[in-house]
Amino acid sequence: MTRKIGIIGIGNVGAAIAHHVVVDGYADELVLIDTREEKVNADALDFQDAMPNLPHHTTITVNDYDALKDADLVVSSVGNIALQLTTTNDRFVEFPFTSKAAQDVAGKIKASGFHGILVVITNPVDVITSIYQKITGLPKNHVIGTGTLLDSARMKRAVANELKIDARSVNGYNLGEHGNSQFTAWSTVRVLGRPITEIATDKGLDLEALDQEARAGGYTVFNGKHYTNYAIASAAVRLINVILSGAATELPVSNYRKEYDAYLSYPAIVGQDGIQEQIQLDLTEEELKKLQVSADFIQQKFAESQQ
Ligand code: 2OP
Repeated sequence: MTRKIGIIGIGNVGAAIAHHVVVDGYADELVLIDTREEKVNADALDFQDAMPNLPHHTTITVNDYDALKDADLVVSSVGNIALQLTTTNDRFVEFPFTSKAAQDVAGKIKASGFHGILVVITNPVDVITSIYQKITGLPKNHVIGTGTLLDSARMKRAVANELKIDARSVNGYNLGEHGNSQFTAWSTVRVLGRPITEIATDKGLDLEALDQEARAGGYTVFNGKHYTNYAIASAAVRLINVILSGAATELPVSNYRKEYDAYLSYPAIVGQDGIQEQIQLDLTEEELKKLQVSADFIQQKFAESQQ
């Protein structure tokens, strides 16, 4: 079975994802699409020059939307994702531009006859994921945003650094918008075999500060190098692998939740059929209120994009 992936938008994020895919052999065929012809052709040649020193072969096609027709999975990393983290410290700073770009790309994906799973990274990701689903007409569970999969990783890193343990030994989720209204659902976080809320005092953990560190992680990295790419690319590649391998893994990704009538990050079982099963968490009253605020914000921004 040939595994075929398309990546639309080969900037710092898209190129990092493509590099993961080529070096680790996650696809047999890779379609790279970007408006900057010279750049994407150079990336393709650079990857071809990498292959003599790699154990895998990947056939690369450039700027051919029709080649997406039989792709298993397409990733959208279109838009100057970094710029959306700049000045006003929010991901909507370029919204009119990214919304228009997403509508344009979504139309081309639809026209290509693509009928696989669509993974969206472009910010503001929850709204852009909604736009992609609306325009492509793909089933809602086949359109997934990376959402707070990245923010949950940042929370794990912050907690792990405090406790001096492996970040992979911290379990739990950031929920809601991949943006300023997201929050760490501490009721879902377990570490050292216990709910974190039961050990925070003994371990001297300031949960408020850790939540803030997780939420601000993107801005911190951006302020140092003027974009973020490695962590978001790793989150996207994990999602790609879970989908292509049919792993059926529980992940906090942006998925359509009927009770909020919005795409927002909430854990779901992700596999070959995209969102295969939605999880129901036992959140606190305060967490439910925060989630509603996030959902309302996403709904409002999506409505604005339709005007
Ligand atoms: C981030 O938080 C770019 O939204 C992405 O790093």
